[in-house]
Amino acid sequence: MKILITGAGGREHSIAWKLAQNKKVEKIFVCPGNAGIETIDIAQNVNLKTIEEILSFAKENKIDLTFLGSEELAVEGIVDLFEAEGLKVFGPHKAPAMLEGSKAIAKEFMKKYNVKTAAYETFSNYEYAKKYVESGAFPVVIKASGLAAGKGVIIAQTLEEAVIALKEIMLDKVFGDSGNEVVIEEFLEGVEASILSIYDGNSIVPFVSAKDHKKIGEKETGLNTGGMGVIAPNPYVTENVNEAFIKDILNPTLEGLKKEYKAFAGIIFFGLMINSRGVYLLEYNMRLGDPETQVVLSLMESDLLELVEKSMIGRASEVDLKWANKHACCVVLSAGGYPVSYNKGDLIIGLDKVENKFVYAESISQAVTYATTAADFGFIAKSSMY
Ligand code: AMP
Ligand code: GLY
Repeated sequence: MKILITGAGGREHSIAWKLAQNKKVEKIFVCPGNAGIETIDIAQNVNLKTIEEILSFAKENKIDLTFLGSEELAVEGIVDLFEAEGLKVFGPHKAPAMLEGSKAIAKEFMKKYNVKTAAYETFSNYEYAKKYVESGAFPVVIKASGLAAGKGVIIAQTLEEAVIALKEIMLDKVFGDSGNEVVIEEFLEGVEASILSIYDGNSIVPFVSAKDHKKIGEKETGLNTGGMGVIAPNPYVTENVNEAFIKDILNPTLEGLKKEYKAFAGIIFFGLMINSRGVYLLEYNMRLGDPETQVVLSLMESDLLELVEKSMIGRASEVDLKWANKHACCVVLSAGGYPVSYNKGDLIIGLDKVENKFVYAESISQAVTYATTAADFGFIAKSSMY
């Protein structure tokens, strides 16, 4: 079986690593991939950029399954196109991909199906948006509606900061067209959790929870990034929290997906905020998280390919998903200057000297100790995708 994975991060490395464990898989191509991926015997990077290039490659090389890593291609409609050409692809059609591609669409969906989320308003006019924040409470959360590589969310502590954020997003267009619309949202206190899951048109099967750490600096300081490190399971996702997640978020989401969209097989990533009032959904991502995937797949004992194949025939829930009763941690090595101004394509050296790419810890504190000496263990490094 030949598989094509799209994307360039540590996430795609993990997906390739996990899929390669199934004996049926003879070759994995990753476009564009990264240097770490080629340390897997059967994996090869291919430099394909446009949907047309990827489509031709998949046809010419008789790819049996394409697995979408990052979100952009799904939002552009690659799944609809591949299906029309009779090719198998794991990921959402363009319409459900917009649950990630437009925060305005996602919030409307959440409201319609009673998915528990922060109160909000959507604006496409700067003056109206400004008036709204002038009459509101602080802090307030301002989000560019479109894709912005994890950087389009500003938590404004004061009216002045809110007005600057609105101006930058809506008038100066620092995120381009992604800022044509903004979502202005109630600020929620609490702790965050990432729950990845698989959807098959009939059910949503959740994976083990994870806790992403987004701040660039030591001890949760500095700017937000796409994720600097992650642990799993998330210690805040207790049994009660999990029950609230299923009742207030997963079940209404499932109802909405089945009613609004044609069936598809893909990932739903729930970005959650947990506080004393319950569990809130901050966002949907319609693909695996980076770096969440690195820890979640390392704890998955079941076969990922079998799960994906079952999901493509609407039967993901038949797989008895097994998780290691262990803890996983991943730290990200990033280029100096990230996330503001930084070099792309710097070489990461020494990977060839790494013996254990995955080290199991018996507790979270042990995992953190390992992580702080990560260079000794050669944890999967993140590429320059952000
Ligand atoms: P999002 O892309 O919507 O997940 O937002 C990115 C990050 O901004 C989240 O991971 C949170 O850290 C923060 N955030 C987003 N929405 C809120 C909110 N309503 N209250 C507090 N923090 C938020
Ligand atoms: N780590 C967050 C994300 O993948 O969006």
